[in-house]
Amino acid sequence: MCGIVGYIGSGNAKDVIIDGLKKLEYRGYDSAGIAVVRDGKLEIKKHVGGIANLENLIGDDPMTSNVGIGHTRWATHGAPSDINAHPHGNQDNTIAIVHNGIIENYQELKQELIEKYGVEFKSETDTEVIAQLIGVIYREKKDLLDSVYSAVSKMRGAYAIAAVAQDEPDKIVAVRKDAPLIAGLGKDSNFIASDIPALLKYVKEIYLIENNETVLLTKDQVKIFDENRNEVKREVFHVTWDADAAEKEGYDHFMLKEIFEQPKGLSETLNRRLNDEGKIKLEGITLTKEHIENISKIYIVACGTAYHAGLVGKYIIEKLASIPVEVDVASEFRYRSPLVDKNTLFIAISQSGETLDTLAALREAKDKGARVLSVVNVVGSSVARESDDVFYTWAGPEIAVASTKAYTTQLMCMYMIALYMGLEKGSITREYYDKFIMDLKAVPDKLENFLKNVSQIERDAKMLYNKEQVFFIGRGLDSAVSYEGSLKLKEISYINSFAIAAGELKHGTIALMEPGTLVIALACQDFLYEKMVSNIQEIKARGAYVVSVAKEGNDAIAKQSDQMIYIPECRDEIAPLLSVVPLQLFAYYVAKERGCNIDKPKNLAKSVTVE
Ligand code: G6P
Repeated sequence: MCGIVGYIGSGNAKDVIIDGLKKLEYRGYDSAGIAVVRDGKLEIKKHVGGIANLENLIGDDPMTSNVGIGHTRWATHGAPSDINAHPHGNQDNTIAIVHNGIIENYQELKQELIEKYGVEFKSETDTEVIAQLIGVIYREKKDLLDSVYSAVSKMRGAYAIAAVAQDEPDKIVAVRKDAPLIAGLGKDSNFIASDIPALLKYVKEIYLIENNETVLLTKDQVKIFDENRNEVKREVFHVTWDADAAEKEGYDHFMLKEIFEQPKGLSETLNRRLNDEGKIKLEGITLTKEHIENISKIYIVACGTAYHAGLVGKYIIEKLASIPVEVDVASEFRYRSPLVDKNTLFIAISQSGETLDTLAALREAKDKGARVLSVVNVVGSSVARESDDVFYTWAGPEIAVASTKAYTTQLMCMYMIALYMGLEKGSITREYYDKFIMDLKAVPDKLENFLKNVSQIERDAKMLYNKEQVFFIGRGLDSAVSYEGSLKLKEISYINSFAIAAGELKHGTIALMEPGTLVIALACQDFLYEKMVSNIQEIKARGAYVVSVAKEGNDAIAKQSDQMIYIPECRDEIAPLLSVVPLQLFAYYVAKERGCNIDKPKNLAKSVTVE
C-alpha cells in the first residue's frame, strides 16, 4: 500500500526521501513521487512505475532543499499514471501533499471546489481533492497548520497525509486518521513516515502518531496536537530493530532471508514469554483466569497468511483449552452478523497491525462488548493499540510481501495462548503443559538443522516449476497448513494453486486429477497418516504426480509418492511449525525458476490499508 516519507533538516531532503521510499517499496506500489521546496519554489517530480523511474526522471538534479515529502502509490482512485501519482499540488502549485488512504466524500468536495472556486483538476485521484481543498483554504488563512486543520474537518475517510507549502519551507504538517503514521526524531532533522523501516537508517527514536492527531515538524521540533489543537505529550518509542534487519544481508531475496530467520524468530517469540520455571508469563496482559473461565466463544479474525495462522489456532485452542473457536477472514466477519457479546474473546492476528479489514472487524467486536487479544508483529501498530491485550510476535521486520516468519511466529503465539488457557481452565494437566513447552522449545533447533540442507526442495522446484496448476492436500492441521502452502505458491509464482482438505477431494476436486497433475500432500499427523496414504492412493490411481511431506521415519508413504520431503520428528500438534517451511521454500524456488519478482509480486501489497 501507499508509503509516505517526509524530511526536514540540515541534509538534502531528496536523498533522504528517495532512500526512505526504497525502504517502503516492500509495501507494494505502482508509482512514486517527491516534492521539495527549492529556493522558495515548490517542485514536484513523479513517475509511474518503480522508484528507479523516478530517479531517472530526476537524473543529476540534486533538487537541493531542506524540506520535502515523498510517496509510493498503490492505485485506488484512478489508474497508475504519472498524473495520478503523488504528490499532488493545488491550483497554483504552491502546496503539495501525499496521502495514504481513501477520502470517502471526495466527489462532493470536488464538486464544491469546481463550482465555488473554479478549481481545475488534473488527476482522477481523491488525493488531489485534499491538495486543492487545502489550497483554497490557504488563500485566506495563509497558514499551513490552520489550513490542514480546516480541510480535515471537511473530510471523511481514512488517511495519513503530509503537506508542505512553498511559502512556509520551515515546516511539514502531517495528520493521521486510520492509516499508519510515525514521526522520527533526529538531530537537526525530523522525519515523518508510514512505517519504521523507512527511517531505520536515520533514527531510533520515534513518536507513534495516534488517530486524529496532527503533527507539526520543523527542523528542531516535532509537536503533536489533538483534534482540538491542544498539544499532546507523547512518550518517545525506542526502536529495537537495527538497520540491518531491513537489509538482505547476502541473501538473494528478503523472502529467503526471512525463511532462514524463522528459528530465531520462534525462539525469541517463545522465550520472551517464558519465566524461569518454563511457565508462560503474561506480562502486560490483563486477561485473568476469571475472564478465561467466562469465555463462551473465540473468534479469530485476520486476512491472508495471518488468517491461515488462525486456522491452526482453532485446532489448537479447541483441543487444549476446550473453547469453541470460529475463524473468519476479516472482510467477511464485518458484513455478517457474528454472535459477539461480552463473553466473546476476539483474537486479531496481523503482522503489520494496520490491515484495515482486520482493524475494522476488531472495532466492531469491541463495540459489541468482546475482549480483544491481538497477535501482532509491529509494536505500537493500530491493531496493537486498540486491543485490550497484545501477544507480540518477535519476528523482526518482515519485508517480503509473502509472509513467512510472521506466520510461524503467529503459530507460536497460538500455542502459547492455547496452553495458557488450557492450564488456567484445567482442561490440560501441568504435566501435559510442561511436555508441550519442552517440545516447542526444541523446534528452533530442529528447524535450524532442517534448513541446513534444502537442496532437495530446490531440485524438486527446478523439475516442477512449469506446472500450470498445483493442489495442496492434507487432513486436520495439515489441511490448515496446505492453505498457507498454496497461498505462498500462488502469491509469488502466479501458478494457479488450490488447497483442499484431503478427505473432501472425492466430493469434486478429484475430477481435476489427470496424469501428471502436481499434488503436494502433507502427511504429518500420525493419527491421520493411514487415511492420508489412502487419499494419496486415490489420486495416484488417476495419474497425479505426488510430492509428499511427512515426518522422518514415516517411510510407508514413500512407496505411494513420486517425491518425498521429510520434516523432523515432532508431536502432531506442532508439525505446522515445521511442515510449512518446505512449502515456503518450494514456492520460493519455483518462483525463482520462473523469473518472478519474488519480494514484490505483481498486484500485491504488504500492508493493505484500504478495504
Ligand atoms: C496482505 C499481505 C499478506 C498478509 C495480509 C494480512 O495481503 O500481502 O502477506 O498476510 O495482507 O496482513 P497482516 O499485516 O494483517 O498480517
